[in-house]
Amino acid sequence: MSIRIEPLEGPIGAIVHGLDSARTLSDADFAKVERAMFDHVAIVIPDLEENVPWLHDFGRRFGHLVPHVLDQYHHPQTHEISIIARNDGTGQSRTTGKPAGAFWHSDLSYEAEPSDAIFLYAQQVPQQGGDTMVANMTLAYERLPQAVMDRIEGLTATHRWGWNTGGATPKLTDEQRVSHPDVVHRVVRPHPRTGRKVLFVNPGYTVKINEVSEAESEALLAQLFDHALRPEFQYRHSWKTKMLLGLDNRSSMHCAIDDYTEPRRMLRMIVGNTEKTGH
Ligand code: SIN
Repeated sequence: MSIRIEPLEGPIGAIVHGLDSARTLSDADFAKVERAMFDHVAIVIPDLEENVPWLHDFGRRFGHLVPHVLDQYHHPQTHEISIIARNDGTGQSRTTGKPAGAFWHSDLSYEAEPSDAIFLYAQQVPQQGGDTMVANMTLAYERLPQAVMDRIEGLTATHRWGWNTGGATPKLTDEQRVSHPDVVHRVVRPHPRTGRKVLFVNPGYTVKINEVSEAESEALLAQLFDHALRPEFQYRHSWKTKMLLGLDNRSSMHCAIDDYTEPRRMLRMIVGNTEKTGH
């Protein structure tokens, strides 16, 4: 394969040309794809024929894959891929008030070990709508006023599954809930692969900043979210079928837009925290 990286205009994104799901990816080509993800936060791979074992293998090259807590949506071929479907008339279609992921979040921030990267593969997309928004949280951190950077350095935040998800997340079963207690993460998190600092809070799962009063926490989180969601840090991804989108989840948050009624069906893989496992 001959891989070519075409950066997009704007603060996020590069198209990866030359990936072929009928052929094994060499280590050298994988290194180019991985580098593109760190450099551009989001990578877009168009026209990739569906091949679930290949996708699974591709995801695992980035690190171990984490089965999603909503085990009712696991893919029949592997629990390391989930189905995110809406309006497609199957039993897997989500029935929540809003589509899955229709709130700003970083995957697994509600877990003790958050996710390094996520991949979404489009099996079916609406004619119009159903885009995914992505915000660059490294850039958001770097553009904070110095006084705010100083204020948040060393602070921690509590994250919780389903905290502020506006009806987009189903209620957990008792078993799922017990395995997902609140967790604490640093508000400013260094990215081990880029060496840059990242603002690691998100409106969907971040409940509060721990070292300040409730009122201060609310005001500070509102200020950080307002800042991070400025359009100059965002990329709006428009889908075509057979497209694979990869996100550096450590450097970003994302949000599915709730503006369609036609079927939309994605396969999703979540790469775990490789800082702990080495890979
Ligand atoms: C997700 O949040 O993982 C899903 C995003 C999407 O379906 O666009």
